[in-house]
Amino acid sequence: MGKKEVNAAIKKAADEAIQEIKNETGAPLASTLEWPITASLNKGLDGAIACETKIGYVDGANGHLVFRGYDVFDLAELSSFEEVSYLLLFGKLPNKSELKEFNDKLIAYRKLPEEIDDALLLTTIKKTHPMISLYVGIAMLAALNEKTEDISIENQTEIAEKLIARLPALVAMIARLRQGKPLVDPDPSLSHAGNLLYMMTGEKPDEETERIMDVALILHADHGMNASTFATMVTNSTLSDMYSSVVAGITSLKGKLHGGANERVLYDLEEIGSPDKVDEWFKKVREEKRKVMGFGHRVYKAYDPRARIFGPLVKFMIAKDPGIEPLYNTAVKLDTVICDVLGKEKKIFPNVDFYSGLIYRAMGIETAMFTPIFAASRISGWTARVLEYLKENRIFRPRAVYTGPVDVPYVPIDKR
Ligand code: COA
Repeated sequence: MGKKEVNAAIKKAADEAIQEIKNETGAPLASTLEWPITASLNKGLDGAIACETKIGYVDGANGHLVFRGYDVFDLAELSSFEEVSYLLLFGKLPNKSELKEFNDKLIAYRKLPEEIDDALLLTTIKKTHPMISLYVGIAMLAALNEKTEDISIENQTEIAEKLIARLPALVAMIARLRQGKPLVDPDPSLSHAGNLLYMMTGEKPDEETERIMDVALILHADHGMNASTFATMVTNSTLSDMYSSVVAGITSLKGKLHGGANERVLYDLEEIGSPDKVDEWFKKVREEKRKVMGFGHRVYKAYDPRARIFGPLVKFMIAKDPGIEPLYNTAVKLDTVICDVLGKEKKIFPNVDFYSGLIYRAMGIETAMFTPIFAASRISGWTARVLEYLKENRIFRPRAVYTGPVDVPYVPIDKR
């Protein structure tokens, strides 16, 4: 028995199957292409409904964002990232003892296993994009957790809490290793946001800076069925596991059309140089049919509510790092020009990524680390939505409208 016999067995099975199908349908196999459902095809799944959720709502027409019924403006002003994460995961604002218990867990989980930095040091960490380092780190966490494969809601919730606690530590570790600086141990006396900044920069932030990072984490925590959330949920719907699902989210967030835009905004602002160069730069960008990073959104056809908060917060950071003032002035001019032109023509306005990078820059954070910080916040929304869907899971499996031929005969290679 060899390859010939295997191929003969395949031919016999195929001939029998084709005969059976012909007997049943009376038609030759795949002779016509009949699309079996009434389909309306919108590129990029525009407008498609993937599932029901109680976690959050993006009102794109009015530029309004809600987490579990609470207005994001109220949460940004009055809440903390820890509280918002609890809200997203468990569906209600915690009382004092619930918040304490949740905080205690997050603090206890902050410390990363020692193997992680050893593994990251085996990579070309200084040259690798930190979003790639981030999913390497998460894959390591998965490989070090003997309960990764237990997909019970209880265990996956515990992993979600661990990931919320550990992503900032991992982001900080990557930032330090990239700069060849010694790692900083977590400080249990600091808030989630304060500890993130401390572990990244090695310095305890002042109260104002800590609060601004807290607000940044709140504003990024969840945002409807965006690409990375959907990627996370698609992966988990196969009953994979929370770590693998989060890796899918991170790989998706990395792209410049999604979370990767915050990094690109800073490069654009630096390229423009000063407010008086904005008009000329935008003219060139339009001629080249390039998109302006930090503007436009699939759902928002109004000014992004998160950008409305980030804009004014940059001014607080100018006082701490006057070096960002020229970039901020350039950003304000670009905001005005784009709203005047693309806002009127196509309802394109600033999104969450437009002003956030200026804040991180003034906090002393390397530009390439902006998207990992986004991930350290969005982990709450990803895991909350995965857990919500897991309770009544059904594998995601859309279809594509096939537009190719169906009856092409196979031609052996020497006859092509
Ligand atoms: N700059 C210039 N033009 C833009 C634009 C931008 N940032 N965003 C969208 N447009 C234009 C498109 O060219 C298109 O014009 P057309 O109808 O004349 O062809 C129209 O607006 C619709 O854009 P489209 O790319 O189809 O929208 P989308 O829903 O598929 O994409 C984004 C949404 C966010 C990917 C898109 O707006 C974008 O690439 N923005 C820049 C990247 C960014 O900031 N991403 C972060 C999002 S939070």
